[in-house]
Amino acid sequence: MKSYSLLSAVVMLGQTASAAWTSAADKSIVYSSVPGFFLQDDNTTSPTGFDYATVNFGLIDRAYPTDKRFDPEGTASQWERFEYYVASLNSGCRPRDNVRYKVLFMGRHGEGWHNAAESFYGTPAWNCYWAEQTGNGTAVWADPLLTPAGEYEAYKANAYFKDRYETQNMPHFESYYSSPYRGAPSRPTSPSPTSPSPRTAPSPPKTDIAALFPSYRFEDGFSEEDELWHSYEAETTAAQAVRAKTVLDDVFRGDDTTWISVTSHSGQITQLLAALNHRAFRLSTGQIIPVLVKATLADPRPAETVEAYEPYSTCEAPPVTSVAGQGCVCEATTAGVPMATAVVPRRLR
Ligand SMILES: *[C@@H]1O[C@H](CO)[C@@H](O)[C@H](O)[C@H]1NC(C)=O
Ligand SMILES: *[C@@H]1O[C@H](CO)[C@@H](O)[C@H](O)[C@H]1NC(C)=O
Repeated sequence: MKSYSLLSAVVMLGQTASAAWTSAADKSIVYSSVPGFFLQDDNTTSPTGFDYATVNFGLIDRAYPTDKRFDPEGTASQWERFEYYVASLNSGCRPRDNVRYKVLFMGRHGEGWHNAAESFYGTPAWNCYWAEQTGNGTAVWADPLLTPAGEYEAYKANAYFKDRYETQNMPHFESYYSSPYRGAPSRPTSPSPTSPSPRTAPSPPKTDIAALFPSYRFEDGFSEEDELWHSYEAETTAAQAVRAKTVLDDVFRGDDTTWISVTSHSGQITQLLAALNHRAFRLSTGQIIPVLVKATLADPRPAETVEAYEPYSTCEAPPVTSVAGQGCVCEATTAGVPMATAVVPRRLR
């Protein structure tokens, strides 16, 4: 067993993180998503076809206990009243130092060339061969940029945020976290981020990211080359879950801001939602999910030890056949009998 000490590969843009949550230093943090504020954490809301841009990001129309004080005339917008309410949770007259609230907006990047190629080849063939390649001669998906459809999704998000800011006075984010892949952060006013998904190419070198996005700050320990990505093995789901929790712990311990944007990948957002004890809510490319997060300090717990990687074999050439749920047949053997490789099914991203 390897213990997974982590390199979360998160980059932070925007403001310098302010005061740390000092009382969290020798504690563990337990997260919960607070129900009743966003449609997405309600079991009756179907994730299928859900579009943030038709429902005010999912913010539920409701009254808050602070409305009377903040908005006695009833003229403030839903976002303004929600912002005030969340601020009151953190600052009330007797703030509890063992509890913090934040509003996390997690956005999945717009469609990248790796997403298009996975659809084009099908998931099994993508996983057992194509994901390892840098492209196919027509499209390039090493450190993928967005496809035209992905760019549209990014413009859509950008325009929707702008509209909410201008017409609803929705609060602006105080911190942004983004995936180090180029395709993820190409829309600065909207969220899209975190760490490399298991089966894409390694993320680009730190100096390249810094040159492209000079306003980025890097987390401590962000290595020059992507050390998490291995060609011969894949990160386990358990390790991904530990990494998601560790990213959250870093953010809650070190970043005192409340309104936070995270731009990331499908698998990573799945793990972040799980770490937040939010129900599963699968995002299609370009989709965004907000969560009101309550973080509570608890007695320190021993670090979890998980298997970090599992073997991962791929074909040397495009597979002869690939079947969902079964994997691929790499090539005909000399006897002419197709041979199946033991291919670990890959998670989508
Ligand atoms: C939502 O569904 C989950 C899983 O079925 C269940 O554990 C949870 O209690 C439900 N939540 C509510 C508020 O009904
Ligand atoms: C390469 O992949 C893209 C999908 O990303 C597809 O549209 C294109 O047709 C492929 N090119 C070849 C030569 O197969």
